[in-house]
Amino acid sequence: MKKLIGQERGHRCVPRRAIDPGRPLQLTEMARATVPGPGTARRCRLLVVDGRCGHAETMSDGPAAEAGERKRHALQLFSGLPRHYDRVGAALSFGQDPRWRRAMVAAVRAGSRDRVLDVATGTGMVADALVRRYGCTVVGLDQSEAMLGRARARVQADDLLRPRVSLVVGEAERLPFADGEFDHLTFTYLLRYVDDPAATVCELARVVRPGGRIASLEFGVPSAPLWRALWKAYARVGLPALGRLVSREWRDTGTFLSRSIPDFYAHRSLADLAALWERAGIADVDVRPMSLGAGVVMWGTRVDERTPTA
Ligand SMILES: C[S@@+](CC[C@H](N)C(=O)[O-])C[C@H]1O[C@@H](n2cnc3c(N)ncnc32)[C@H](O)[C@@H]1O
Repeated sequence: MKKLIGQERGHRCVPRRAIDPGRPLQLTEMARATVPGPGTARRCRLLVVDGRCGHAETMSDGPAAEAGERKRHALQLFSGLPRHYDRVGAALSFGQDPRWRRAMVAAVRAGSRDRVLDVATGTGMVADALVRRYGCTVVGLDQSEAMLGRARARVQADDLLRPRVSLVVGEAERLPFADGEFDHLTFTYLLRYVDDPAATVCELARVVRPGGRIASLEFGVPSAPLWRALWKAYARVGLPALGRLVSREWRDTGTFLSRSIPDFYAHRSLADLAALWERAGIADVDVRPMSLGAGVVMWGTRVDERTPTA
């Protein structure tokens, strides 16, 4: 029996159109929905069927529309960072971040004819690395116009990137793409900025074809007590202080990161994150903590949700 998990959880979206349990469902189905309150009718995205990726959500007209506190903060945070982003990001991680990125890009194993979606592409560093390594084409998506502006300049200035990289304003929570449209997908430093990481990973997995790879990079917190204590001291004092040397925006970013990274792991372990990926229809999930755990690269393979299991 097909189930709408959003309904089961008492989500406020109530689909008008009945789902016929006998009819095979696409992984994602669109339906009109009635939302209580002013304005009432809104579109709902039903991400889930059959007990795997459970979610129903309202659709908005753009990142700023109906943005929650977290999204508004992310939009504001990244509006002031594009200019120095590439160099400062590497410097604040003591040169480790480029190494983590290389590991993530290596995990994608794309072919030259493949089409890869890079979500939260920012200034386009991962898109650039994917093209240089594989010769593939890349769609870079980000909700920040400011960050994408930098990515655009990078692409326009480069003969190799120009025909291979296209850039799209959009949100990871509501990708403007069809099911299975991409061969592979990457995302970097994204999940701390979304309200519902589990639903977002479902949405990311949705647009990858079965057999395609999904790879991500995120900051981590070292698990060994000594390194953990040193990391915390650096995050609390070093990050804002070093950021201050660059600009007020980077000082604020340093302060933000010193809270946002430990908060992200306060109630979830790396094993929990891997389980979350698996529930989103990603198999063979590998987790590689790097630089004593300060960076975490994860990757896995999209499975076909529509293949009946025994
Ligand atoms: C720390 S930056 C990472 C940029 C880039 N991936 C890199 O290689 O460093 C995080 C990026 O995620 C974007 N972002 C945050 N939340 C997002 C969302 N919900 N949808 C799309 N982009 C998002 C921000 O605008 C920002 O460009």
